[in-house]
Amino acid sequence: MDQTTSGVDPVPRRAHGSGREDRIMLRPEQNRFLTGTAAGTPMGEMFRRYWIPALLAEELPENDCPPVRVQLLSERLIAFRDTLGRLGLLDEYCAHRGVSLWFGRNEECGLRCPYHGWKYDVTGQCVELPSEPEETGFRAKIRLRSYPLVERGGVLWTYMGPPQHQPGLPEYEFAQVPAENRYVSKRLQYCNWLQALEGGIDSSHVSWLHRDALRSDPLMTGSRGNQYNMRDLMPVFEIAEHPAGLFIGVRRDAELGTHYWRITPWCMPAFTMIPPRGTHAVHGHFWIPIDDENCWAWSFDYHPIRALTDIEVAAMREGKGIHTRTIPGTYIPLANRNNDYLIDRAAQKAGETYSGVAGIAMQDASLQESMGPIIDRAKEHLTTTDNGIIMARRRLMRAARELAEQGVAPPGTDPATHRVRSAAVVLPAGQVFQEAAREALTARPGVAPASV
Ligand code: FES
Ligand SMILES: [Fe+2]
Repeated sequence: MDQTTSGVDPVPRRAHGSGREDRIMLRPEQNRFLTGTAAGTPMGEMFRRYWIPALLAEELPENDCPPVRVQLLSERLIAFRDTLGRLGLLDEYCAHRGVSLWFGRNEECGLRCPYHGWKYDVTGQCVELPSEPEETGFRAKIRLRSYPLVERGGVLWTYMGPPQHQPGLPEYEFAQVPAENRYVSKRLQYCNWLQALEGGIDSSHVSWLHRDALRSDPLMTGSRGNQYNMRDLMPVFEIAEHPAGLFIGVRRDAELGTHYWRITPWCMPAFTMIPPRGTHAVHGHFWIPIDDENCWAWSFDYHPIRALTDIEVAAMREGKGIHTRTIPGTYIPLANRNNDYLIDRAAQKAGETYSGVAGIAMQDASLQESMGPIIDRAKEHLTTTDNGIIMARRRLMRAARELAEQGVAPPGTDPATHRVRSAAVVLPAGQVFQEAAREALTARPGVAPASV
């Protein structure tokens, strides 16, 4: 193995005795490399080069509202909106003696620790320290770690990396369209971010796990593509690179001489977009590490050229499509590991749901959490339908290593590279999908998504 600063060879090896190019597993140290995102780890430092979703805007609804605990990339933080509407994201703990500022008083342009009254502004600067005379200069030296927090598209985004490398704000299309064209939700998922991302890249499971949704979910039914999905259960994966990540093209047989392509863009490190169905809204996810064993599954729906209807929004609020219902006052799903995801064996037997778990989101989460908090990827047996996952792992490892060793900026930090779209198209057999669908894969304001 070649020795690197990170000590990890980025090229996964073939499984013993498989003899097949595609059956590639990860050694334990590679698995640790990919799944660890605390500060100082190669993947953690790479994640810190991107703007990532931190909170829904609804979590800080008004000036001087209660502060909110936020854990991201294994860092415990506090978010608040001050008297003037400025947003702050600070180290959770008071610099004096470590009280959680979640108990703080959000008042007069700052968050005041209730223990001895030290007060901090949105930059983390201590602005009042009642027990010391100002002349000592002690107060001015007290500053909590802080990160920028910026609202865009109903999401509060943060950047946790070196200030000199802070990129422009994200330009994912869902965050650029008018508010009435969009719906965003988030839910807690009890597993490492990578196995959640891998679910977003692996669209071969849709014809199995989510087959009931193709028939009955009001946000998915009625598209011609659903029939292709159900008819051809041996999809062929083709992967193409784009500047921010990959296009994962999945081809199924359509009418004679044509193929139905579902194309999923993945933008590094954690953004995926699901190919559309008919005239429905387009959707996708962010998979954001809370710590190494938990992540936020962010889910968005948007339509580039129209407002979402009241019926659509009501369905999303009820947990249809890729959203889920949560315990009121939290972002914990109602169906969760503590109640066996409310699995309904009778519905499973009758085929009303394939796994017995209701709803796409919890169908995915239940199975991904069942792998354990961090799946042992040395034990996998991958097939050709896992090619997207294999390529994504390689790209992540390569980028994290190049950043760690050579300081090379990872792909997808330039906001111009965010302007991608998923697409569902029928193409004549033999065409190169990323060329034939080039326009369809580009976010174009005012242009409808390519969808069948
Ligand atoms: S612990 Fe916060 S002011 Fe003392
Ligand atoms: Fe899924």
